[in-house]
Amino acid sequence: MADDQNIVGGSLKQQIARLFEESLRVTVPEELDVAPAIAPCQNANFGDYQCNNAMGLWSKLKGKGTQFRGPQPIGKAIMDNLPQSEMIESCSIAGPGFVNVVLSRKWIAKSIQKMLVDGIEIWAPRLPVKRAVVDFSSPNIAKEMHVGHLRSTIIGDTLARMLEFSNVKVLRRNHVGDWGTQFGMLIEYLFELFPDGEGANEQAIGDLQAFYKASKQKFDEDPAFKERAQKAVVSLQAGEEKYRKAWTDICEISRNEFERVYQRLGIQLEEKGESFYNPYIPGVLELLRQKGLIEESQGAQVIFIEGKNIPLIVVKSDGGFNYASTDLAALWYRLNEEKAEWIIYVTDVGQRDHFDMFFTAAKRAGWLPSDENQYPKVNHVGFGLVLGEDGKRFRTRSTETVKLVDLLDEARNKCRAALVERGRDWTEEELDQTSEAVGYGAVKYADLKNNRTTNYTFSFEQMLSDKGNTAVYLLYAHARIASIIQRSGKDIEQLKRTGTLNLAHTDERTLGLHLLQFAEIVEESITNLLPNVLCEYLYNLSEDFTRFYTNCQVVGSEEETSRLLLCEATAIVMRQAFYLLGITPVYKL
Ligand code: ARG
Repeated sequence: MADDQNIVGGSLKQQIARLFEESLRVTVPEELDVAPAIAPCQNANFGDYQCNNAMGLWSKLKGKGTQFRGPQPIGKAIMDNLPQSEMIESCSIAGPGFVNVVLSRKWIAKSIQKMLVDGIEIWAPRLPVKRAVVDFSSPNIAKEMHVGHLRSTIIGDTLARMLEFSNVKVLRRNHVGDWGTQFGMLIEYLFELFPDGEGANEQAIGDLQAFYKASKQKFDEDPAFKERAQKAVVSLQAGEEKYRKAWTDICEISRNEFERVYQRLGIQLEEKGESFYNPYIPGVLELLRQKGLIEESQGAQVIFIEGKNIPLIVVKSDGGFNYASTDLAALWYRLNEEKAEWIIYVTDVGQRDHFDMFFTAAKRAGWLPSDENQYPKVNHVGFGLVLGEDGKRFRTRSTETVKLVDLLDEARNKCRAALVERGRDWTEEELDQTSEAVGYGAVKYADLKNNRTTNYTFSFEQMLSDKGNTAVYLLYAHARIASIIQRSGKDIEQLKRTGTLNLAHTDERTLGLHLLQFAEIVEESITNLLPNVLCEYLYNLSEDFTRFYTNCQVVGSEEETSRLLLCEATAIVMRQAFYLLGITPVYKL
């Protein structure tokens, strides 16, 4: 039994849960569906983890002529029936039957050493899905890619990375707004500027947003133009060559612009824009019609959703399709063609109603189970606004719209200036790489560390500070660990194989236990779709490291080997956390 948990693996919490699961089956064999309720101890003086099943079991059992005479005896029995395990040092009962567990130092040390040898992948969470879609970033062609899209890009990428780390195949989808009636006006305006069809490239058009604005103005002011624009939509949808080509050109120019942002941030995305799903819409709506979901209302075709004042419009009164019809088709495609078991949409909270409504429609159509904990599953990951330091919606200084690329460049440049000012002996290449890693990392971390549903204030000064909960502070902590290891002059790869890790000092044990909790933190973070949980873990980890380093001499001490291993394990976990947050670690800062 003792080694069973090593073979089966899983997070620390899952391993403890498995021991209690065994005990529960023996203690209350009649309650087969009761799952172990395991949580970290509120008060570290009692232990590391606790099992909270006794009270719940008591309220289930008390009317049924049980042998137990209260929650405490149940807790005691759960404790006594725990299988032998090298994981556990000791157990105790507190209050009405809580079973506290103190983990064995030796076992904690052994588990960390196993990770050092086998790699951090053995601490990957296990999730009940194999394939997921993360629909994120998704800006609109010819309109601005604004800070909301930046948030979506950063949050979506992190969620995708956590899923990938958990061995889930992720389809990273850029659901760009590349279809709709606005293209009639854009195409017609393009023809006006370039009557012979030539020249519709980036240099000539320049700022696509300005182009959008100018064409919109003309559309609003010139009835003849408006009419031509409306005809252009029809020609485009009919697939007429000339219109198709103009549309492709416009999309291409936008795409290049988006790409510059993705390239800076190291974001992988596969574009399947709204236009991709257009051919599927009629068939998908037909399926919904057959289920009796679609009704006629004021000339439009709609789906009424209980509890909502306005219905979900799926065919407009002019016969055209819209955002919702596209999303229904895309959902059908992702479930049936792509076989996704979990589909995650990352947009601002303002779109919550839209998602609620088409999710409900999909449930009523039988595409999704009505129980939200079952798969296939859909989630809307909503986030708050980005505010400027004046408390208003974020805008860059001079222009009314935010050029994201400029924003990112500014973060990098400010960072570079700070590095130069500190006056270390940087090579140009080091300066470039470090200022990019830290500057972009700072923007990402400032966003991710907040609970995503709240608004967050964009402040270069805050995010680039080396104090407090910032990427700069964390990257510093990592660089310091790297330099400790380097200063020791030891070959750390060799130590991993030959050295032994002990966690004799309290601060070593605390740090070690924290490291071991990495898997369950990532699991919690991805299961609840809250990247801030991982950020908080990373911040606390570097605080635990600082306490250890302040109180325990590493280089030159008797425990040098063991402590270097603990440093290395901390650096590995930090790097993996950085990786999951999309931040590039640095070794010198
Ligand atoms: N293009 C939309 C916007 O800018 C976001 C699309 C999100 N994804 C989706 N499947 N609706 O607001």
